[in-house]
Amino acid sequence: MPPSRPSAKKATRTSQGSKRVSDEIPTPPPRVTLIVGTDTGVGKTWVTTALARALMAAGQPVVAVKPIETGVSDPANPGEDGVRLAEATGQSGPMRALIRLTHHVAPAIAADLGNHAIDYEDLIARIRAIATPDTELLVEGTGGLLSPLTWSDNHLDLAHSLEARVLLVAADRLGTISHTLMALRVLAAEKIPVLGVVLNQPGPRDESSRFNASALTRLADPVPVVTLPNLNDEAQATEAVKEVAGWLLP
Ligand SMILES: Nc1ncnc2c1ncn2[C@@H]1O[C@H](COP(=O)(O)OP(=O)(O)OP(=O)(O)O)[C@@H](O)[C@H]1O
Ligand SMILES: [Mg+2]
Repeated sequence: MPPSRPSAKKATRTSQGSKRVSDEIPTPPPRVTLIVGTDTGVGKTWVTTALARALMAAGQPVVAVKPIETGVSDPANPGEDGVRLAEATGQSGPMRALIRLTHHVAPAIAADLGNHAIDYEDLIARIRAIATPDTELLVEGTGGLLSPLTWSDNHLDLAHSLEARVLLVAADRLGTISHTLMALRVLAAEKIPVLGVVLNQPGPRDESSRFNASALTRLADPVPVVTLPNLNDEAQATEAVKEVAGWLLP
């Protein structure tokens, strides 16, 4: 387990030299949810944007960020993940991914190809700077769970560094049972809290889609599994993720 983070608020003294009681109340740490995928293209951005809208509809302020996005160039494109996350929350910033890399490969490789050294500690500090105690911070991963962010850090490290709980997104297609269970085993071995599995339908259903949810519900127990249909309507998507949003609410 990571060391517990010291309270951001230090006790200060008034001009009379006595401590203010309010300053002695520890500030709760910001709630950070890391949305990771079993793979790339499974619907992390789709789920995160819908979740952000659902949480805001429930009165929960949200900021959403993509720490590293690959396959992007200047100027920023409205279809980029980081831009779409910012658009979903209406946040004042960040308006795009914190680190944007040109080559559409895993971050550690894209950084090498672009001669861009990723300073992991600085990235963590930048993500933490966005979080506030009252705001739910949604962090979208890049690629799958063990996709290398640097040559020494992946999403397990990111979850530890941010003291985040994980929402695992998987695609409801053949192969997902093994991918999802492998991801859950690794997360459990790392003692990273998992809110649940979102079995999402980013594309056409296949023969396995009738069975994946029940099989995973049985095999992932006690981790909850929710299925999301393929929906092109934003309002319907927001409605569909309501149950998942409930997992995140205090
Ligand atoms: N439930 C859904 N209904 C309709 N379309 C979806 C759904 N989930 C995902 N999609 C679509 O599938 C594609 C891939 O989804 P998305 O971009 O969210 O995946 P991702 O995991 O964020 O990918 P990346 O690894 O590139 O970040 C997108 O075109 C998205 O709009
Ligand atoms: Mg994405």
